[in-house]
Amino acid sequence: MNILARAKQLEADGYDVIHLEVGEPDFATPQVVRNAAKKAIDEGRTHYTPAMGLPQLRSKISNYYKEQLSADVSAKNILVTPGASGALQLVLSAIIDPGQKILMADPGYPCNRHFVRMLEGCAQSVAVSADTQFQLTHQLIREHWDSETVAVMLASPSNPTGTLITREEMQQIIAVVDELGGVLIVDEIYQGLVYDQKDFTVAEYSTNVFVINSFSKYFSMTGWRLGWLIAPSEYIDVIDRLAQNLFLAAPTISQYAALAALDAEAICIYEQQKNELRMRRDFLVAGMTKLGFVISVKPGGAFYIYADVSKFTDDSFTFCSDLLEQVQVAITPGIDFGEHQAARYVRFAYTQPIDKLQQALDRLARFLLPQGLK
Ligand SMILES: Cc1ncc(COP(=O)(O)O)c(C=O)c1O
Repeated sequence: MNILARAKQLEADGYDVIHLEVGEPDFATPQVVRNAAKKAIDEGRTHYTPAMGLPQLRSKISNYYKEQLSADVSAKNILVTPGASGALQLVLSAIIDPGQKILMADPGYPCNRHFVRMLEGCAQSVAVSADTQFQLTHQLIREHWDSETVAVMLASPSNPTGTLITREEMQQIIAVVDELGGVLIVDEIYQGLVYDQKDFTVAEYSTNVFVINSFSKYFSMTGWRLGWLIAPSEYIDVIDRLAQNLFLAAPTISQYAALAALDAEAICIYEQQKNELRMRRDFLVAGMTKLGFVISVKPGGAFYIYADVSKFTDDSFTFCSDLLEQVQVAITPGIDFGEHQAARYVRFAYTQPIDKLQQALDRLARFLLPQGLK
């Protein structure tokens, strides 16, 4: 947040800052989706929807799983939420009692540990490194599970590393968490943005898992605040009641817009955007590697590159701060995502077009060379 605030300040002072710190797509929501929202406004669809979401949207999400991911997910198990953030808060509220522990990867999405703390639970961070693709594995889960642990949170593709959990590993994780009697929560918010292999959902393998998703990333709808949750049947009632109390419902206009986001016309645009992101990833990974950044696991999804900068510095926060001050490239230091090797890593978000990425690489070269860092 300090880096972001400083980047904004520099911009206000007239500097041209290249933003590679922002965790949202630069693409505007497709026109066809915006038109659906306008139509909903004109038709006066301005009231609350049911807390679980518009029935037609829940069915459409269910169809989306069938058509795009060959997964059988009943609309009855789908709840529409205010972003993945709303879905995460609902699930954690439903499962945590004070003092209980939730296993999660370090580095990982920072809000998760804050949500757990808010509910007086305990985030049990497990250090993960390149050797496990920066992901928890079934062995790590077994090793770190104790009598207070009640759940495991995973994200595939992950923020900040863009790395994935394989199908085989996911099946083993399901089996181990089941054997330990715990709850498995899989954040699939970057689902759709998987570049080198066919995408899958954990919902294909189990109906006993909480699946988090959102219209924010693949669907380029961050500002619409809309996501969804797939919950096991026995939790639907409690989650419905929690949603009624916490949010009443997700934004109505956004839900009507999302109906169009799931149509073939919009999906065709999303697939083109995905191709563009894949090209950006390849471009930036190659350019950064040439400059001496170490990218030990090629990110297979999302729009992040988690790079080892230990060759240049032993303090990634100062590295980010100097980079911003000297050549106005904004990136995120590892400390935002946890403590494990945080001073060694930085996150680049390739949420800028290729010409901007080229400029960023030129500036990085300028930053690294004079200091003899390369
Ligand atoms: C892993 C992960 N989960 C959840 C979220 C929250 O997303 P939203 O509430 O916009 O759907 C983010 C946002 O960056 C994220 O990276």
